[in-house]
Amino acid sequence: MSNHDLAIVILAAGKGTRLKSSLAKVLHRAGGRTLVEHIVRACEPLKARETVVVVGHKAEDVAAVVEPLGAVTVLQQPQNGTGHAVHVAKRALGRAKFALTLPGDAPLVRTETLKGLIATHRNGNAAATILSSVVADPSGYGRIVRKSETAVSAIVEESQLTDEQRELNEINSAIYCFTLENLWPALAQVKPNNKHRELYLTDAIAVMSAKGETVLAQVAADSREVLGCNTRADLAEVDRVFREWKRNALMDCGVTIQLPETVLIDPDVSSGEDTVIEAGVQLLGRTKLGARCSLKTGSVVIDSVVGDDVEIKHHSLVVESRVEDGVTIGPFARLRTGTHVKKGARIGNFVETKKALIDEGAKVPHLTYVGDTRIGAKTNIGAGTITCNYDGFQKHPTTIGKGVFIGSNSVLVAPVRIGDHAYVAAGSTITENVPADALGISRGRQVTKPGWAAKKRRELSAALQPAKSSRRAAKKKSRPRRASKKRRR
Ligand code: UD1
Ligand code: MG
Repeated sequence: MSNHDLAIVILAAGKGTRLKSSLAKVLHRAGGRTLVEHIVRACEPLKARETVVVVGHKAEDVAAVVEPLGAVTVLQQPQNGTGHAVHVAKRALGRAKFALTLPGDAPLVRTETLKGLIATHRNGNAAATILSSVVADPSGYGRIVRKSETAVSAIVEESQLTDEQRELNEINSAIYCFTLENLWPALAQVKPNNKHRELYLTDAIAVMSAKGETVLAQVAADSREVLGCNTRADLAEVDRVFREWKRNALMDCGVTIQLPETVLIDPDVSSGEDTVIEAGVQLLGRTKLGARCSLKTGSVVIDSVVGDDVEIKHHSLVVESRVEDGVTIGPFARLRTGTHVKKGARIGNFVETKKALIDEGAKVPHLTYVGDTRIGAKTNIGAGTITCNYDGFQKHPTTIGKGVFIGSNSVLVAPVRIGDHAYVAAGSTITENVPADALGISRGRQVTKPGWAAKKRRELSAALQPAKSSRRAAKKKSRPRRASKKRRR
């Protein structure tokens, strides 16, 4: 479908008073993106001649989000209502014949639905076509008043409903397709006849209908697509729907998700087949998971690439990292930015890594910090090893070769290099390079004194004897004194 005669207008200038927030309403997030970004993206495949976003409240912040997505912005100052907002966009629409107008706070609408709306509008030679929805609870929304099965006579806002109209359950999504040569004159006749003294775009519908122009309403196939976010509760509901759609999409691609409603997945996340995601997992940002992975309860993976057959055990956090095939992580591991774990390596419990390359088959199994470090293939890092990468001013690198054995509780003070197949003795503080095949040991030599402990116990016990007998004597003396007190009473 060619839409060279169509412009998109997104209304995003309002304050969002009901959210009680210092952030612009359309910059609140649901389903892993700002509200307005969802809408711009849903419109992108329509290939309209122009996408115009009307900004006002926190205009610069909103422009900073939508302009990189290819939209142009126009400023509405002050914000005198949705009708005024569309009027402000007039010059930016150029020679467009039609305008697809959307609110910036209803982000669940899908491209297919918009395509259907535009087609209905074109085929019906309409002045306006409204995307509507039939809902169980219409409160808060403008209601569609029909004059026949196909034609609409007006949209009535909640605050202006008669008792009879209150029963109507077909609501206005605030997504419309307009024929501009019909819209502009109608909008010019709209008056601010409401308690906010605003120009309502919805009032243009009644004007067009009264002139005998065709106004249609197309009912959205899925009523959730029109949910608007005016309150924090609306935001939570919209987020819930986005998350459900994303989980369903991944399940359709062959991913198992246990207790799906507890799992949070951002829109750009992908996964291979037969990956199993347990309850309470979060997959965020641009995370890519391979096939046959296992993500255990409580794990969080952000902006990371994970290969095939990877196991991320309970309560591990993986951020901006790369994890190759067959790796095991956790439980309780923290992989920070710039970690690269190569094939078959193992990161165990209570291990923190940052800017670290852990080569194939290497093991960092317990209680370790590895930062600004390269660890060679098949090297084993003992429990409690710490790379001291920071001297209070700068970060320094640690390079550990392949097949190295670092004994437990070692401290490697960077910059330092441990050569291939070297050993570091447990409990060492290594401040100098250890060459290949060497042993680095840096700790006090052990002295064993036979019988020392038994002798010490005898000495201590003898020293305590006089003290014990003098306490007994003191107790005896104190008894008669207490007795005499009683007698006095
Ligand atoms: C609007 C509709 C209502 C519909 C509902 C669907 C009107 C008068 N009412 O109500 O019929 O059922 O959406 O969600 O249109 N905006 C501007 N400039 C302004 C005022 C608003 O750009 O001067 C923007 C807002 O930022 C928002 C959108 O327009 O993105 C809609 O405004 P909002 O205040 O949310 O209208 P609703 O009360 O939800
Ligand atoms: Mg709204």
